[in-house]
Amino acid sequence: MYRDPVQSLEAPSLPSSATAMRPLRVGMIGIGTVGAGTFRVLARNQALIAGRAGRGIKMVVVCARSLARAMSVVGKDVALTNDPMQVATHPDVDVLVEAAGGTGTARDWVLAAIRAGKHVVTANKALLAEHGNEIFAAARQHGVAVAYEGAVAVSIPIVKALREGLTANRIEWVAGIINGTTNFILSKMRDEGVGFAEALAQAQALGYAEADPTFDIEGIDAAHKITLLAANAFGMPVRFADAQVEGITALQGLDVACAEQLGYRIKLLGVARRRKDGEVDGVELRVQPALVPATHLLAHVNGSMNAVMVKGDASGVTMYYGAGAGSEQTASAVIADLVDVARLQGTQAAQRVPHLGFHADAVNDSLAVLPRAAVHTRHYLRVPVHQAQQIEAVGAWLAAQQVPVLRVELACEKTAPVGAGPQVLVLTDAVAQSTVDLAVHALAAHPAVAGPVAALRVEMLEG
Ligand SMILES: NC(=O)c1ccc[n+]([C@@H]2O[C@H](COP(=O)([O-])OP(=O)(O)OC[C@H]3O[C@@H](n4cnc5c(N)ncnc54)[C@H](OP(=O)(O)O)[C@@H]3O)[C@@H](O)[C@H]2O)c1
Repeated sequence: MYRDPVQSLEAPSLPSSATAMRPLRVGMIGIGTVGAGTFRVLARNQALIAGRAGRGIKMVVVCARSLARAMSVVGKDVALTNDPMQVATHPDVDVLVEAAGGTGTARDWVLAAIRAGKHVVTANKALLAEHGNEIFAAARQHGVAVAYEGAVAVSIPIVKALREGLTANRIEWVAGIINGTTNFILSKMRDEGVGFAEALAQAQALGYAEADPTFDIEGIDAAHKITLLAANAFGMPVRFADAQVEGITALQGLDVACAEQLGYRIKLLGVARRRKDGEVDGVELRVQPALVPATHLLAHVNGSMNAVMVKGDASGVTMYYGAGAGSEQTASAVIADLVDVARLQGTQAAQRVPHLGFHADAVNDSLAVLPRAAVHTRHYLRVPVHQAQQIEAVGAWLAAQQVPVLRVELACEKTAPVGAGPQVLVLTDAVAQSTVDLAVHALAAHPAVAGPVAALRVEMLEG
């Protein structure tokens, strides 16, 4: 008789191999969306997880601000406290799950846990983007692991893919849609022809955007994540402060429609690209709304979904797709990290997968983020003009400024409302950002130009 293998793993009792070893004892700070999901999934899939980890994983203490609310989630068998430091340094805790968020006190708790010899699991991308170098150095010094799959793309195991599955490769670039809120907003703008403000209001009403959506819509959340991916891809320190970050607040519905006319869709992309050409040696590290060809796989990642693509010299392009947020979706990553930690028992720190994929002596401290001016991509320009015939003057003027123009056309009536006036749409070949910035600035003074010029990058992300 056929037996589903997963069903057989879900037997209520722990496998005998998992009872031989002491369970991994977890202390958790914060029992909100991520914390509660982690507790639920750990409880629901207890035997299955233990079978994979080789030992049980047991929540022993939880820190919450409201103990009554915490008790309603974890029941009476888990100790509760209001004091995060007590969990971080608790003698019965092997691993701290930091699920509270923030970068101030969360840093103190995580460092205290590390100094007390605890492993740490966190989904806190802001914390690692800002303090990752310090936290990973402390973890190395104390011989403990800091695991953070949930901090990047949640249900997509992209950190594991980069650190383990793709270790043979020289990574050329990593790019992706790594913020569900902005992808939801951009999908609404395209599908329903609404402006940014209305799409944001819909996202908030449906729970896809927070009451204060700044980190999402300004691209900061995506920048936290692409910074961590870049460190893993290229063997560089975490360089969030150097990332170029542009959100979608200034994006106009008109540009979403014009991109469509040209055969492209606009997505908020995180891009990390290794560049070594001529004088240039560094990494482009940036978040920006960009045009991708409508035929590209990333153009079809809609709603709140996330996707990451990686180009390796041996693997070619690989793509990973899944939910980028959510209670149990994040728990999936947090628990995968706990299973990794459970499997560390008896290993020496040097034998483990390094925090950022490269052993400390192989991390290239001098590998720098390239300045904005050096970024090299194709571009889209939308130039409002007084009269449609001025299209030729605009094209010729751009070419004279060393902008490699590939295509020039007028926005059609269906694309641009009559009141907007004629719009010249330009696609360029790859060109330095400095050239485009100069041309856009100078265009403002051109007699044919009737208003502010919109400029966006175009990402081909080819194999
Ligand atoms: N939600 C997601 O889908 C998701 C996905 C990936 C990563 N993350 C990351 O995971 C972390 C947690 O996010 P979340 O969505 O779970 O947030 P959340 O729902 O707001 O939960 C955070 C919890 O931590 C508690 N907390 C905060 N400071 C505390 C303190 N000093 N002592 C005790 N408890 C404290 C909060 O208590 P109060 O309720 O009393 O404030 C809240 O219950 C963040 O770093 C976030 O970026 C979240």
